[in-house]
Amino acid sequence: MAYQTQQVTRVLHWLSAFFIIGLLGSGIYMADGNDYALYDWHKAFGVIAFLLVIIRLYHRKDNPWPSSAKGTSHEKYVQYMHQFLLIACVLMPVSGLIYSGLGGFGVDVFGIEVIPSRYNEKAEVLAYNQAGSDLGKAVHYYLGYLMTALVIVHVFAALKHHFIDKDNTLSAMIKAKNTH
Ligand code: HEM
Ligand code: HEM
Repeated sequence: MAYQTQQVTRVLHWLSAFFIIGLLGSGIYMADGNDYALYDWHKAFGVIAFLLVIIRLYHRKDNPWPSSAKGTSHEKYVQYMHQFLLIACVLMPVSGLIYSGLGGFGVDVFGIEVIPSRYNEKAEVLAYNQAGSDLGKAVHYYLGYLMTALVIVHVFAALKHHFIDKDNTLSAMIKAKNTH
């Protein structure tokens, strides 16, 4: 893979990791503490993360990352893990949008209305489709915790490679060696 292409992969990996770790953390915090001040931020950054993930997948389609696990006995598992993480990166924002959107809560990205909210004059929310919203909520909840656990495993795997195996798995994802 060309140097510039690898750089794009790295930037997209770390940028989406930054957003998604923030979203997992803020999501768990607000769902546990009912801190409503965070909801609008979480939803807006969730939509931005979704756009970032779409760009990442589009780039990845033609430029798969040359995983350091290639040729090892655990190559398949690493591949499944990375595939799971990518699928979760798509399903989390989609389920969030379905949950908030169909639930009538609305989605607004810093002043741009993506999905209108629907409240009655008593300020009660009126769902567009309650069953759909409940399904989105359930997916967002269970997948959110599963993804959190697997991101932790992913991070520990990267740290193990770096500090115990002392190979370049993490360094390769951080810094390019310009061979040209
Ligand atoms: C990559 C994107 C996202 C990630 C990783 C993420 C992660 C999470 C997590 C882990 C939770 C706590 C578990 C739960 O109660 O559901 C949560 C809660 C929540 N998320 Fe997201 N989220 C993302 C995007 C979105 C989007 C785009 C929306 C809506 C437009 C959204 C709306 C919500 C809401 C309303 C809650 C609170 C649920 C409650 O009070 O029970 N999320 N999110
Ligand atoms: C929510 C956060 C994260 C997600 C969703 C994520 C996802 C992924 C995915 C899908 C890949 C495979 C490359 C690709 O196909 O694009 C990958 C590779 C990698 N990630 Fe992450 N990542 C996250 C956070 C992190 C963090 C915090 C670290 C470091 C501590 C890390 C270290 C690495 C490394 C070293 C690789 C290369 C693995 C290899 O060569 O096989 N990631 N990540």
